[in-house]
Amino acid sequence: AKPVRVALLGCGTVGGEVARLLTEQAGELAARAGAPVELAGIAVRRPDKHPELPPELLTSDAAALIDSDVDVVVELVGGIEPTRTWLLSALAQGKSVVTANKALLAEHSAELFVAADASGADLYFEASVAGAIPLLRPLRESLAGDRITRVMGIVNGTTNYILSAMDSTGAGYAETLDEASRLGYAEADPTADVDGYDAASKAAILASLAFHSRVTIADVHREGIGAVGASDIRAAQVLGRTVKLLAICERVTSDDGSESVSARVHPVMIPRSHQLAGVNGAFNAVYVEADAAGELMFYGQGAGGSPTASAVLGDLVAVARNKVGNGHGPRESAHAALPVRPMGQT
Ligand code: NDP
Ligand code: HSE
Repeated sequence: AKPVRVALLGCGTVGGEVARLLTEQAGELAARAGAPVELAGIAVRRPDKHPELPPELLTSDAAALIDSDVDVVVELVGGIEPTRTWLLSALAQGKSVVTANKALLAEHSAELFVAADASGADLYFEASVAGAIPLLRPLRESLAGDRITRVMGIVNGTTNYILSAMDSTGAGYAETLDEASRLGYAEADPTADVDGYDAASKAAILASLAFHSRVTIADVHREGIGAVGASDIRAAQVLGRTVKLLAICERVTSDDGSESVSARVHPVMIPRSHQLAGVNGAFNAVYVEADAAGELMFYGQGAGGSPTASAVLGDLVAVARNKVGNGHGPRESAHAALPVRPMGQT
């Protein structure tokens, strides 16, 4: 089949891993997608700082790369502009978009969805919430027949990394934040993490999907962890508790029977026996409660280049399959490539 040509915008912590895996796993991805998934170009801010990438693929002109002969745009730059303009342009041209940009989605998802619907392009963003954890697709697809009442959990790896370190080793806030940045967990501007903006963006995305609503970051009550000090951590310990930054999205029923959506992000002292208390480092965990399904829990690595790239590549395969096979689900024939070891052999 004709290759699916990919424009990669951004090749930093996440984009670098996506480029690496696209190259190293080209054969397997082609088998799963039903066509070769080809890296057609990579836009970065400073091409001269990327000697590790093939020079013929590099450009600093993301807009021109989008306008070139590509089928899919993978956006891993971040921020609102110029990414909003780029992605609207891609979607208007019928080019599908895969993005991890929660800040953009939490403000502008409505116009991005309209642009995607108008041209029939796909807009996928699994990596925007909870890193590697498959969470948005279950909300959008697997639970589409159920009635979700609550989504609650730890959705920011950086603050969880800081709070976990403060709780376990008594480490200081500033040094732990530096470490989280070095490990690739923190945003380019880490105040987005510590002041709760990143978690609030994710809460807006989760609430929108779970409750079929249009929640933006402006609708989310937000408190970060800036005011949480060593004395608060110790006080929590004395009470048999620990401090976690939680995102809580709920369906609320008023006295008159009308329903609305509430979303908030703030530090919570939770009992040490609670399952969320055992979620440490950059791991995330999210509970989903639905009428028929009951309680579900999603857990895994919530930040970092490699885990996030996993979610991006999953979206990319889905988009490529849609393009190649007109939306006909996974290709079982792809599994035939791996031989089965006969029973009894080691
Ligand atoms: P980085 O800062 O590591 O990488 C950003 C990339 O964008 C760099 O390659 C940079 O180029 C490039 N870039 C910046 N401005 C431009 C521009 N004007 N034109 C072209 N390229 C540009 O960010 P991350 O990889 O950490 O994050 C990327 C996105 O993924 C963000 O939306 C973030 O919120 C999201 N995300 C990140 C996660 C993580 O754990 N890091 C997890 C989930 C989502 P150059 O290399 O030349 O500087
Ligand atoms: N800065 C984000 C975090 C990256 O720490 O959770 C993952 O979205």
